[in-house]
Amino acid sequence: MTDPEALKRDAAAKALTFVEDGMRLGLGTGSTAKHFVDLLAERVQAGLKVVGVPTSEVTRAQAERLGVPLTTLDETPELDITIDGADEIDPALNLIKGGGGALLREKIVAAASGRMIVIADASKRVEALGRFPLPIEVNAFGLGATERAIAKVLEACGCPAPLTLRRKADGHVFVTDGGHMILDAACIRIPDPVQLGARLHSVPGVVEHGLFIGLASCAIIASPGGAEVVG
Ligand code: 5RP
Repeated sequence: MTDPEALKRDAAAKALTFVEDGMRLGLGTGSTAKHFVDLLAERVQAGLKVVGVPTSEVTRAQAERLGVPLTTLDETPELDITIDGADEIDPALNLIKGGGGALLREKIVAAASGRMIVIADASKRVEALGRFPLPIEVNAFGLGATERAIAKVLEACGCPAPLTLRRKADGHVFVTDGGHMILDAACIRIPDPVQLGARLHSVPGVVEHGLFIGLASCAIIASPGGAEVVG
């Protein structure tokens, strides 16, 4: 059986072949993106000149520790490529992201990038989004009312789902880098991700959701047979 970490690293290594000297990069979050930052740092140590915008404080700390030069979207509002993982990837390259809780910064950084390259092992490919619980980032104020409004939207969009307030392993509520909370919606199957994404944005209190529609340019999918570029 192939080691899942080896597959993630294969996808990350293939993504590195898209990186050229002088590029401005969005640096994703999660275990697959972590491999990419590790490999990128090796190239930087060998002389590659790039600058990165991290999508989380965890990625920032990793990149700083490894000597990858960083910038911000205030200093560098347009990026060439973002390389990031995903929790689910459908045939149209729509994604569910946010399993690591970084969806807000991940979406802002991806939207500021000319291209978003998704890196993943083959287990992330699905026919329809929704089996992975959809992360919805919400403001702490009015949580109960926001939760009820989200539940109505999910029902109206054909995917009624229990909502779970995300907690850390120690039982404390998970708080995002932006100071918000996350409700995970166990939809099972999302019939129309475009409609659901738009309707979630109309709920006051919803800061962002983990549906990434039309943002990915391609996906690098690693399986034991090799890393394949899709899209
Ligand atoms: C973090 C994310 C991650 O990219 C996603 O959860 C995939 O992570 P991993 O590579 O560890 O499977 O969206 O918010």
